[in-house]
Amino acid sequence: MIGAAIIGLGYIGKVHLQTLLRIPGIKVRALVGGRRLERVRELADTYGIPIATNDYRDLLDDPTIQVVHNCTPNHLHYEINRAFLQAGKHILSEKPLATSSQETAELVRLAEAGNLLTGINFCYRYYPAVQEAAAKVRKGELGDVHTVVGSYLQDWLLYDTDYDWRLEQSATGQSNVIGDIGSHWFHLAQFVTGSPIVEVMADLKTTRPVRKKPGPEGYEEYEVKVEDYGSVLIHFANGASGVFTVSQLCAGRKCAIDLQVYGFDSSLAWNHERSTELWMGYRSQANQVLMESPFLQHEDAKRYALLPTGHPMGYHDAVYNLFRDFYENLKLKLEGKEPKYPVPDFGEGHRELLVTEAILQSHREKRWVKVL
Ligand SMILES: NC(=O)c1ccc[n+]([C@@H]2O[C@H](COP(=O)([O-])OP(=O)(O)OC[C@H]3O[C@@H](n4cnc5c(N)ncnc54)[C@H](O)[C@@H]3O)[C@@H](O)[C@H]2O)c1
Repeated sequence: MIGAAIIGLGYIGKVHLQTLLRIPGIKVRALVGGRRLERVRELADTYGIPIATNDYRDLLDDPTIQVVHNCTPNHLHYEINRAFLQAGKHILSEKPLATSSQETAELVRLAEAGNLLTGINFCYRYYPAVQEAAAKVRKGELGDVHTVVGSYLQDWLLYDTDYDWRLEQSATGQSNVIGDIGSHWFHLAQFVTGSPIVEVMADLKTTRPVRKKPGPEGYEEYEVKVEDYGSVLIHFANGASGVFTVSQLCAGRKCAIDLQVYGFDSSLAWNHERSTELWMGYRSQANQVLMESPFLQHEDAKRYALLPTGHPMGYHDAVYNLFRDFYENLKLKLEGKEPKYPVPDFGEGHRELLVTEAILQSHREKRWVKVL
């Protein structure tokens, strides 16, 4: 059995825990929480997990743990990922990989130096319809891609009483919405097109610059310094152009990811609110909608369609698909073989930080900025 630990047990930490229970050959041996130790113990006992602590350093020298899942808020990603890489552990981290590209470059260096496997939970690309979209582009079915447009819209920060650590620079880093959900969108766009974003021109905004932060005696006014809206023009290495918009204040949009890819022969579109479907558009024939299917998809995308056609998969299954590829790669690595599945790694996490920083710089300087 491979031993795993999960650090951070909020929303996504629990998704990691539930997903790990589905992966054969893995035993979750430790849970690390942020605050009340008794709550961590209670959760660990519920799942029969032997170690419960609120100090991740307790695990650095534990030989029963080979893999660490880092599900803490953004500002802790660097410190915790670095400590475990230095301790020789493989890591599956949450995004954004860290809060600056200096930090992410250092993490990439440490992973390479330690010959350690890394992964980042860019889970949306693991929906079977998204894998099929990427396979269609790879196989040239769209012709050369010329235009990519889309958005990632949410509404959970619409009211001035909505509050979260993502609004505080000390926890979220330089960026809120671009790093949080923009990174998911541009990771998807680069994955489906198979082409990196090389240049950006951004317009960002803090739609609600003052919010009511909950305190011990009701609310206090809090001045928000990070953006909650962004629209970005993008250029891809393959010559395609595009634009995307992200916001956390669009009433009615919960987790609305929209990606549209246009080629010279045909188009495709995917929307997270109808995640099982892939729309294919044509100039001279009727458009089509493919439902995810282990029978109807391309050979290299079938692997991700886990259920018989007509049985819809969901978010947990997308995360499962990523974890399964990560752990199958790890098993190969531990047997001295080459990992064979293309899981987003710390190298890709570093690139997403470079794109984020170029977007922030472009907004500050009001000009196109190259992604270095
Ligand atoms: N891949 C995805 O789809 C996805 C979705 C949600 C969140 N995320 C990422 O996951 C991370 C966590 O987000 P969340 O929404 O779960 O936040 P959250 O606030 O729900 O959970 C964070 C948890 O970390 C704990 N924590 C804080 N300091 C800690 C420490 N030193 N040691 C251990 N635990 C500590 C907190 O107590 C809290 O329970 C963020 O970086 C976010 O960007 C990714």
